[in-house]
Amino acid sequence: MRKSGSNFRTIWQKPDDRETVQIIDQRRLPHEYVVQDLRTWRDGAVAISDMLVRGAPLIGATAAWSLYLAALEGRNTSDQSAFVAEAAEALGATRPTAVNLRWAIGRMRSVIDSADRGLDLVSLLETEARDICDEDIEISRGIGEHGLKLIEQIAATKQGEPVNILTHCNAGSLATINYGTATAPVYFAHAKGINVHVWVDETRPRNQGSQLTAWELAENGVPHTLIVDNAGGHLMQHGLVDICITGTDRTTRTGDVANKIGTYLKALAAHDNNVPFYVALPSTTIDWTISDGLRDIPIEERDPEEVRSIYGRHGSELCSVDTVASTTNISNIAFDVTPARYVTGLITEHGICAASEEGLVSLFPSQAPRKE
Ligand code: MRU
Repeated sequence: MRKSGSNFRTIWQKPDDRETVQIIDQRRLPHEYVVQDLRTWRDGAVAISDMLVRGAPLIGATAAWSLYLAALEGRNTSDQSAFVAEAAEALGATRPTAVNLRWAIGRMRSVIDSADRGLDLVSLLETEARDICDEDIEISRGIGEHGLKLIEQIAATKQGEPVNILTHCNAGSLATINYGTATAPVYFAHAKGINVHVWVDETRPRNQGSQLTAWELAENGVPHTLIVDNAGGHLMQHGLVDICITGTDRTTRTGDVANKIGTYLKALAAHDNNVPFYVALPSTTIDWTISDGLRDIPIEERDPEEVRSIYGRHGSELCSVDTVASTTNISNIAFDVTPARYVTGLITEHGICAASEEGLVSLFPSQAPRKE
């Protein structure tokens, strides 16, 4: 992640105190850059549920580091493994839609389960959490390299005019450890000198587009324009979008895609206007156990207060203001599912494939259903 010209990760161990994990409090961006200490697994759980960190891969990584913190705390209990297992249970319930949470906890638990008695659980979980983060960076790099080819193909038809990419929510560096998923191809194209321009959906109610994606694109020097969530269809009708690339929080083995609420409407508009609609995802976001996204993906409903109020700067003060009457009934559905038929392709670290079981299995053959 770029900040003031330097490269950072989104989660790391405090340099002079490896028993503290540090994150960026993403609720405060773009107005303030605040680093937050996580000292206990409960700090990690709150960081996930209150969205100091968010984005499927970073949620998984935060849960992994939280279990390392649980192992540290559990040293003083009669049963360290049981203490960590309880923390894993509670962390698993913090956010329901992003499957990376379950994946990362499962991976940490298998380390605990296979550890020989007497081995130092703290250092085993520390290594595993660090590996999860290192691997996530390599995965984003792979997504970037494969997605770059799509942008290059479009650029070849545009005689130097910008390639216009529309994205929704934040599937950027801030949602991962570095590079992002949907933004990785954009950063790779920009670094290669390709003229790119990003339409950034504001993404109400938490404004991950205006507060996070716009911020990180600016830090990377990528030209971009913020739009309200309802503008994408109009832009597509007028030929102003060459490609949509979004991220996902959970994708079924058949290619149905859960992502931030409003993604489905963008996919419908893209379909109606023959605009390619791609979803960028790490393999850790594929839920191989389910096949019907509408039926099987749990959709998170969040606090209505997120819709009622809006956070920002007023003069020199940062504050929230209510935008509706206190009596207004509010629903805050956080994700929707885009059926595979509206997804042109999936960009993964192994390559690009059709949004279908055959497509995904062609890139991840070990996941092919077993023949009896
Ligand atoms: O609620 P959030 O901010 O955690 O949701 C994240 C998203 O929906 C992003 O769009 C993203 O694509 C998934 S993470 C790369």
